[in-house]
Amino acid sequence: MSLSELITEFIAKARKEDKKLFPFMANTKEFDEEKDSVYYSGPYWDDEEIQAMFQSILKGKWLSAGEDVNRFERRFSKKFNKAHSVMLNSGSSANLVLIAALKKYFGWQDGDEIIVSCVGFPTTINPIIQNNLKPVFVDINWHDLNWDMDQVEQKITDKTRAVFSSPVLGNAYDIERIISICKDNNLELIADNCDSLRSKWKGKYLTDYAVAASCSFYPAHHITTIEGGMVSSDIQEIVDLARSFAWWGRGCYCVGKQNLLANGVCGKRFDKWIEGYDHVVDHKYLFTNIGYNLKPTNMQGAIGTVQLEKFDKVHEIRRSNKDWLASIFERINGVRSIKELPDAETSWFGVPLVCEDKKQKTALVKFLEDNKIQTRNYFAGNILMHPAYKDIDNFKLYPNANEVLDRVFFVGCSPTITAEMITYVEKIVDEFISLAKKA
Ligand SMILES: Cc1ncc(COP(=O)(O)O)c(C=O)c1O
Repeated sequence: MSLSELITEFIAKARKEDKKLFPFMANTKEFDEEKDSVYYSGPYWDDEEIQAMFQSILKGKWLSAGEDVNRFERRFSKKFNKAHSVMLNSGSSANLVLIAALKKYFGWQDGDEIIVSCVGFPTTINPIIQNNLKPVFVDINWHDLNWDMDQVEQKITDKTRAVFSSPVLGNAYDIERIISICKDNNLELIADNCDSLRSKWKGKYLTDYAVAASCSFYPAHHITTIEGGMVSSDIQEIVDLARSFAWWGRGCYCVGKQNLLANGVCGKRFDKWIEGYDHVVDHKYLFTNIGYNLKPTNMQGAIGTVQLEKFDKVHEIRRSNKDWLASIFERINGVRSIKELPDAETSWFGVPLVCEDKKQKTALVKFLEDNKIQTRNYFAGNILMHPAYKDIDNFKLYPNANEVLDRVFFVGCSPTITAEMITYVEKIVDEFISLAKKA
């Protein structure tokens, strides 16, 4: 019996013994509206991922990032049209090494400015601060809930070096406008693509327009490696630098099987690498950056390669679930969902819902949660309201962002949300509508 058959047999036996095993991951369980919740997202897995995970562990001689990770990096680059990628242990780690790499590559100085929206996820902003750069904030607009591009223009100073784009819930905006602002002012466009993997503008990936991009493989995202992230760029030096920061800061840039070459891919592993030290040093222990350890395990790379094969299906289901759910919620007076712009093809992370006021949002969210339908805030709302950021900037300067927590939330549109679940959501929304009419 082959290893793969043995693993298949093991999974089948385990499931037979315990009916509760892997139902979520395998998407095999029927939805029971009395007991089950509609989670906003989750791993869209089946036995292929479990098979890949076991194979990687059982065959692995090292187990940490190796050939399986390197294969995923290559396939991810090919799929999303970037020449080079490095996998990390999370999307937050990806942002951290992305900014560190860009700072070094472009020679940005401490205190140089990066423009970013104050509405979004904290670890888009934190790496700017952690790398001794200055985040300069802009508000959002109510039309698409993305950053206000007039403000982006107004906030440019002679210290601005880049704009860090992070379309919330994946919603693509007029990226050509940002490109022209960047061109006119000699700025780099960096993409936090954690929510917007495959979102397009005029037929091109949002990341096609950026000098480098990050991505997350947390289970809520389009594809998952349990935890994980990626930095991608067409400029090899940027990706090599990101890899170095993630691998303790070391100088050696061998990846996957290259690590087994006696003299490394550079062919001069043992050389006089240290200035002022006239002896041979092993390049594997030459440290060229003040680094971290943000490496993934090899198993995560193996899972990623399988997940990538499912990506196109994931994209289609996310889009159709979004449209269906948006049409259900828009039946409620005063509720609107954010629409895709005409030139966009958004790969939705969730269904953004804007309520007419705080009272309506509070009542609707409570009703959904009481009925086991998960909701989420529009991430942090205005990040500057949160205690950690109180000394960074004055949140009161961003009025639209301040209203976000009051009026906006999202529900999921992940492929783990089945037609049965959406029919259940529809029933609950209809109940909400009739209760609101009676009130
Ligand atoms: C826009 C954005 N950036 C960064 C991250 C961080 O990714 P991770 O959870 O993999 O660290 C997230 C998280 O979900 C996100 O939504």
